[in-house]
Amino acid sequence: MDDRKQRIVIDRAAPEGTRFFGWEVTDAAALDALAARLETAGVGVTAEPRTLADTRRVRALISFKDPAGNRLEAFYGAEIAEEPFNPGRSISGFRTGPLGLGHAVLTVENIDPVMAFYVDVLGFALSDYILKPFRAYFFHVNGRHHSLAMIETGKSGMHHLMMEMFSLDDVGQAYDIALTQPDRVSVTLGRHTNDFMTSFYCKSPSSFMIECGWGGRDIDPANWQAVEMHDGPSLWGHERVWLQAADREVAREMRMRAAAEGRRAPVQVMEGNYRLMPGTCPWWDGVSKSSV
Ligand code: FE2
Repeated sequence: MDDRKQRIVIDRAAPEGTRFFGWEVTDAAALDALAARLETAGVGVTAEPRTLADTRRVRALISFKDPAGNRLEAFYGAEIAEEPFNPGRSISGFRTGPLGLGHAVLTVENIDPVMAFYVDVLGFALSDYILKPFRAYFFHVNGRHHSLAMIETGKSGMHHLMMEMFSLDDVGQAYDIALTQPDRVSVTLGRHTNDFMTSFYCKSPSSFMIECGWGGRDIDPANWQAVEMHDGPSLWGHERVWLQAADREVAREMRMRAAAEGRRAPVQVMEGNYRLMPGTCPWWDGVSKSSV
């Protein structure tokens, strides 16, 4: 995805549902401190051997499990490739760097013990949450609005992995490609309420989805206040094609209400992927001043 030698591991030999998540710490001292914190909390920690560190392309790692049984690996010293990143097809690239590869969303039986582990032991911070139509909690570890989220579905699993592109057109072009394949798209193009991501979701060959997005917001972790959100997960779009008709109707009503109440958010851009147009219309100047 970038200059890292390894971001994602795909292993055909692993049974369906096998997964592990790598979380990066600054250095050896931070890794030791984390191991000590886990042990104090009664969590079993394995100092993984050099051979696994070589396989993962990192200097060192420890492994442990979260209360849902997910294997986590904490590491430092990721190897950087000598060759520049060369994407599999023509795209502008992935927004990673200090924000990490994107976000992972888990499904859990019961959020409370899992959340306590990520927040109290690992040090994740709550970004926001929804309680209806289901419980979902979003967590950050840097300026990305969420690097991890959990949805309480009653079943432990992997919901999706999000990757963010530099250009909105990359998302649209990926959407076109996904639409050429029957049943590939599982959530239509839409925009999220909390991280402002414009995205769609497609089925991976495994049991989880990939969210392909653009324009996720940056937050300031030092001054962030977590709130409950009432507008549903999306400002528009994001039809979940697998839902029963009645559930789709509930989701549609939430979006229609958000629209009727004028929920909007400025697009989140970065240098190089936008061009600011001159103001042309007193009416719009008034709207943009009053709504943002
Ligand atoms: Fe997502």
